[in-house]
Amino acid sequence: MLQLKHVNKFYGDHHVLKDISLTIEDGEKVVIIGPSGSGKSTLIRCMNGLETITDGLILIDDIDITKKNAPIQKVRQKVAMVFQNFNLYAHKTILENLTLAPIKIKGISKKEAEKTGMEYLERVGLADKANAYPAQLSGGQQQRVAISRVLNMHPEVILFDEPTSALDPEMIQEVLEVMIDLSSNNMTMVVVTHEMGFARTVADKIIFMDDGSIVETGTPEHFFTNTQNKRAQDFLSKIIHH
Ligand SMILES: Nc1ncnc2c1ncn2[C@@H]1O[C@H](COP(=O)(O)OP(=O)(O)OP(=O)(O)O)[C@@H](O)[C@H]1O
Ligand SMILES: [Mg+2]
Repeated sequence: MLQLKHVNKFYGDHHVLKDISLTIEDGEKVVIIGPSGSGKSTLIRCMNGLETITDGLILIDDIDITKKNAPIQKVRQKVAMVFQNFNLYAHKTILENLTLAPIKIKGISKKEAEKTGMEYLERVGLADKANAYPAQLSGGQQQRVAISRVLNMHPEVILFDEPTSALDPEMIQEVLEVMIDLSSNNMTMVVVTHEMGFARTVADKIIFMDDGSIVETGTPEHFFTNTQNKRAQDFLSKIIHH
């Protein structure tokens, strides 16, 4: 599904991604963890062409998205992103937030986009908010809307960049539950998060990054119980006793 081969990225002379290679299979759930500044956001932003890379290859279904004339619009339909700060359109209703892109970018009829939009709102428990505006919703509700908006584009992969870290503690769980529900539906997911409980239950694979490199890759079981890597151990001890 998604393959990175020897990806490097520099900001000026700052080497922020160092020879990253990884493969994400169809339906796989990958959780990326690591200290602040290690390159997690940069890495997932490269996966849907939001960032350009300095060298290497990024293949999505065998299309190299780093080529100059890559169909980037198509790529973003396949590989969608959920951000920390929801990024909803403030002056559109919740349902309009869900239907805008499918109508404009995918050419789906308004009627059809609204029908599937309502189904996804139902799924995240917010059908009754269809006509509300984002500011009338809590942070947790807005993030659930952002997830249903992405679903209404029918992506093949969803990238999440710290989807719960802007939320008050009591709202984190409701968003994680939506993500857990998605994970049981065969969606391919790449999630940057500090929620270790989520990582443990949902991840097929955990990737630990430090200073622009993938330092360790393994199952949650391996990672949480017997990582030998010093930097990973340090990170875990800080985050778990945090
Ligand atoms: N637009 C940019 N211009 C220059 N440097 C950048 C830019 N974006 C990120 N960086 C640098 O690249 C490195 C990786 O940043 P990135 O945001 O990917 O880290 P992160 O692991 O997501 O951190 P956090 O956990 O704080 O979100 C950092 O040193 C950062 O300062
Ligand atoms: Mg980040």
